[in-house]
Amino acid sequence: MRCVIMQYVIKGGNPLVGDVVIGGAKNAALGILAAAIMADEDVTIENLPDVRDTNVLLEAIEDIGARVRRIDPHTVCINGSAISTVRVNNDFIKRIRASYYLLGALLGKYKRAEVSLPGGCNIGSRPIDQHLKGFRALGARADVEYGMVVADALHLAGNHIYLDMVSVGATINIMLAAVLAEGNTILENAAKEPHIVDVANLLNSMGANIKGAGTDVIRIRGVQRLHGTTYSIIPDQIEAGTFMFAAAMTRGDVTVKNVIPRHLEAISAKLKEMGCEVIEFDDAVRVVCKSRLHYTHVKTLPYPGFPTDMQPQISVALSLAEGTSMVTESIFENRFKYVDELARMGANVKVESNVAVISGVNRLTGADVSAPDLRAGAALVLAGLAADGYTVVDETKYILRGYERFDEKLRLLGACIYQAEDERDVRRFKLEAV
Ligand code: UD1
Repeated sequence: MRCVIMQYVIKGGNPLVGDVVIGGAKNAALGILAAAIMADEDVTIENLPDVRDTNVLLEAIEDIGARVRRIDPHTVCINGSAISTVRVNNDFIKRIRASYYLLGALLGKYKRAEVSLPGGCNIGSRPIDQHLKGFRALGARADVEYGMVVADALHLAGNHIYLDMVSVGATINIMLAAVLAEGNTILENAAKEPHIVDVANLLNSMGANIKGAGTDVIRIRGVQRLHGTTYSIIPDQIEAGTFMFAAAMTRGDVTVKNVIPRHLEAISAKLKEMGCEVIEFDDAVRVVCKSRLHYTHVKTLPYPGFPTDMQPQISVALSLAEGTSMVTESIFENRFKYVDELARMGANVKVESNVAVISGVNRLTGADVSAPDLRAGAALVLAGLAADGYTVVDETKYILRGYERFDEKLRLLGACIYQAEDERDVRRFKLEAV
């Protein structure tokens, strides 16, 4: 039997030039799809990214009885009126982090939820104590039993909740549960990421009453029911940032279209420090890089700080920059696993605790590397695009969790990258690409 192992094969060295259109934000979509089941009427979601994580969540939603009608690859209509169970124990769901949004959504709507403990990228310990603390504050019992998170309540009542740390997931989950609670909830030290505002906007368009999303205090006045709506997801900040860095690393000239430039400010600022020209338009940014990148220092922080989901991409770019850079990862402790892979390509990176010290090298050279997680996988592809010779990036299944048609979009910008299913494909690509 032929063993299928999806890999990207890349011949590096082509500057990326042209336009790329960014899709809907994966992390917003995950919260939004969960929220959509809270109404008993049709909720139509547009600009949905067609990526593995959202498709897995849609399967889980269908599995519990909600009606899911795919209108086209980027539009789905969800109707939660026929949900027949609050137990989500689908094998797939364990693999995605955002399965936990079904906890908030089902608890809010039915006052009970049982969801397998979430999986997702292995980038460090990812507790959900703040989510549970929020549910308990709303009057629910919330415990982990037999590998499932079980939350239930006779009724939910609004409360004053202070998060011990800024958590995107806990902010969205508590918001989901609180919109149908009785009375007012004040959520302090809330995360401010653009996708939190997006989930709140969707919920408000379904009849919820949420104020302050995008600031660190969110005020929610509970309503009795939510109704149907049509809603379009914001563009993906991280997909956009990845293409911006791809342009920078290949000394290219790329216009990244269908973005909200304000959401990209931290990324644009770093690219400018590194010597790129970043030109902002209403809904696009153009990144031009004509010479070798300069070193810089960066620390990942909650929004509006530099996103942890862009840390591997900037680190890979800095591995080719002039001078020594320091990258501090302050959100997840295990997010430097790609560094050993990058070293195989000639990079000089030393990791001490949560700081990577990167001494820029003149060139990277192609090698066989393996994607350890979603964003690091994308970063290794960028390294391959900038490296001399051929790079094979294994375990592309991680990359497909969050990037739609990644190789195709890169090819349209002039990259030499293909998906290979086996060694024979890899050899054929290398022969043809000579
Ligand atoms: C979300 C994103 C992920 C991104 C991360 C930070 C989704 C589906 N995923 O993940 O891509 O990298 O935000 O921007 O949107 N923490 C606790 N207890 C909790 C919750 C979090 O200790 O109950 C800690 C985490 O271990 C981490 C930090 O808080 O150190 C931030 O995590 P959080 O913002 O919750 O990340 P996720 O929602 O899992």
